[in-house]
Amino acid sequence: MHVLTTGEAVSDLLAPYAAVERRPGRLGCWVMGHMVGGLDGSAAIDGRVGRLSTAPDVELFRLMRALADVVLVGAQTVRAEGYGPARLPAERIKARRAAGKPDTPPIAIVSRSLDLDWTAKIFTDAPADRRTTVITCENADPDRLAAARGAAEVVLAGTERVEPAAAIAGLAGLGHRTVLCEGGPTWLGELVAADLLDELCLTISPLMGGDPLPISVTPPAAPVAPFALRHVLADGDTLFLRYERGTR
Ligand SMILES: NC(=O)c1ccc[n+]([C@@H]2O[C@H](COP(=O)([O-])OP(=O)(O)OC[C@H]3O[C@@H](n4cnc5c(N)ncnc54)[C@H](OP(=O)(O)O)[C@@H]3O)[C@@H](O)[C@H]2O)c1
Repeated sequence: MHVLTTGEAVSDLLAPYAAVERRPGRLGCWVMGHMVGGLDGSAAIDGRVGRLSTAPDVELFRLMRALADVVLVGAQTVRAEGYGPARLPAERIKARRAAGKPDTPPIAIVSRSLDLDWTAKIFTDAPADRRTTVITCENADPDRLAAARGAAEVVLAGTERVEPAAAIAGLAGLGHRTVLCEGGPTWLGELVAADLLDELCLTISPLMGGDPLPISVTPPAAPVAPFALRHVLADGDTLFLRYERGTR
């Protein structure tokens, strides 16, 4: 055990995350999760993240998207948080352009029900070359599937449900190499259970008493996945932990 002492100041919050080498895995993508939890592991307060998040976490949440080829998210988070297309500060767009990437990453939504508002900004305001992607399954409701095809790119990844491996392979097929999963806990747990989460960036917010919803909900009987600590950063009372999938 070691006592952590305060190290050098980090002027660019994203820099320690941008410096990481992310090599696409067996399905062609590196999958990172980015979540915030309370001290009790809670992932939301009154069904939303807002009150859980601190100012530096809000900033990091916004900036992490600069590292992603695509932002992957479960449908319930889109419904609860009112997701729109990703936006990035001008200097991050410039850096992405210099790296040959599109200005912002598209959003990809995982849904079985396709109970989504196709007139919402996440569909209508997405740039034409980065339309929002909906990842669903073959046996989704045909009328809703037709509506989805009108509003979004559709990836079929499974028959009765979205199979996580097929979803990631589908994103790789669209040319994405770095996937940023922003939750929610149910979809993140699906990725963990399928051993597809390569990295978890976890913010610990100095609060207790949120919703009884942990940051990841793995399906019953899923194997336990060990992770290795890669960095610890602090900003005031907010702790930023970065883990990568490891063996134990
Ligand atoms: N603390 C954080 O960092 C953080 C991050 C994100 C969200 N949240 C919070 O978490 C809550 C939402 O999370 P959640 O766990 O309830 O939902 P979620 O993971 O965002 O979404 C669950 C939905 O995703 C779809 N889905 C998941 N796995 C699927 C599969 N294998 N096949 C097909 N569809 C699948 C289903 O959509 P359909 O119902 O459409 O079929 C399911 O209802 C909200 O309160 C939000 O504020 C917190």
